[in-house]
Amino acid sequence: MNKTVVNSWNEWDPLRHVIVGRADNCHIPPEEPALDAKVPEDSDMRGQWGKRPQETIDRANELLDTFAAQLQARGIRVDRPVPIDHSQPVTTPDFHTGSQFGCMPPRDVLLTVGPEILEATMSYRCRWFEYLNYRPLLQRYWEEDPNFRHEAAPKPRLTDADYHPDYLSEKIGVEKRLKWAEEKHFVTTEEEPLFDAADVLRFGRDLVVQHGFTTNLKGIEWLRRHFPDHRVHAVNFPGDPYPIHIDATFTPLRPGLILNNPQRRLPKDQRGMFEKNGWEIVDAAQPAHNAPPPLCYSSVWLSMNVLVLDPKTVCVEKSEVYQAEQMDKLGMEVVEVELRDAYAFGGGLHCCTADVYREGGCEDYFP
Ligand code: ARG
Repeated sequence: MNKTVVNSWNEWDPLRHVIVGRADNCHIPPEEPALDAKVPEDSDMRGQWGKRPQETIDRANELLDTFAAQLQARGIRVDRPVPIDHSQPVTTPDFHTGSQFGCMPPRDVLLTVGPEILEATMSYRCRWFEYLNYRPLLQRYWEEDPNFRHEAAPKPRLTDADYHPDYLSEKIGVEKRLKWAEEKHFVTTEEEPLFDAADVLRFGRDLVVQHGFTTNLKGIEWLRRHFPDHRVHAVNFPGDPYPIHIDATFTPLRPGLILNNPQRRLPKDQRGMFEKNGWEIVDAAQPAHNAPPPLCYSSVWLSMNVLVLDPKTVCVEKSEVYQAEQMDKLGMEVVEVELRDAYAFGGGLHCCTADVYREGGCEDYFP
């Protein structure tokens, strides 16, 4: 066969092929340095781990299946990962942890840049082997598409040297976390390159990468050397006390327009490339909820974790009425998708998907 299966250069061109995660057998992993730093201090998740309750898994799968069917009904090819046994421990010569995480959300693991899908290093021990859930799909793309580049970033060692010990105390307090975020003092050290794919946003020739808990500066430098034809920009959002994954913070909708979380505004000195090129950065609407659902790592800002289907069409979670209203005002057609009961599995509509094919090529939006 001789056709292009993998091609996606940005977050908004017409989507033709996507991976949607599965909730099967998802676990709340045991304590480990990077993960603990991220669990909100008032969260119901502190101190408990094991397989997630089966009824929540079934409900999340029902929602993910329906979302997949909605996309398929619009002519989008949808593939699903093949879950490995997440109850298995992870042991390497450098560390041991009692269980894995799941095959949710795919956006965290797979970074598609043009004809390439890159497996991220990851930064949690429990997610070290998560790429295995996607290998059957990647092998298939390899067979189908002679130009597909399947790449994997160097697996990190994830010894204790990767984590700042001052982040590991039980009670740090939000005030101190915000101060540390401002100083760019995050839980991960600069021991070795670390990044999660969900810290990267693709804008054609430019990649915008969040420096935070799950991606360090060496990880960003690794991406810079790996994609020599791209400009790679490090950004950070000092208003976020738990900075992981950029997609509930900064959401491009189409060329020239980005939603920004009003509690985590991009600092002025990092706005230059957008301002010079006439891009608008607007505050996202308020979330419809004042607390995340039970056993959820993420904040209420999954409201802005939308999946853009094309520059005029966007999937918004059904209960997020204010976000939907804002999209409407911005001239986007809204596709409602029910997903809130799956948020606990690692995120919203953008998180639970990974791009395989969007129309269009590599444009320079910031000449
Ligand atoms: N850090 C975000 C928040 O809680 C959640 C991001 C989830 N994204 C993802 N790709 N898993 O606001």
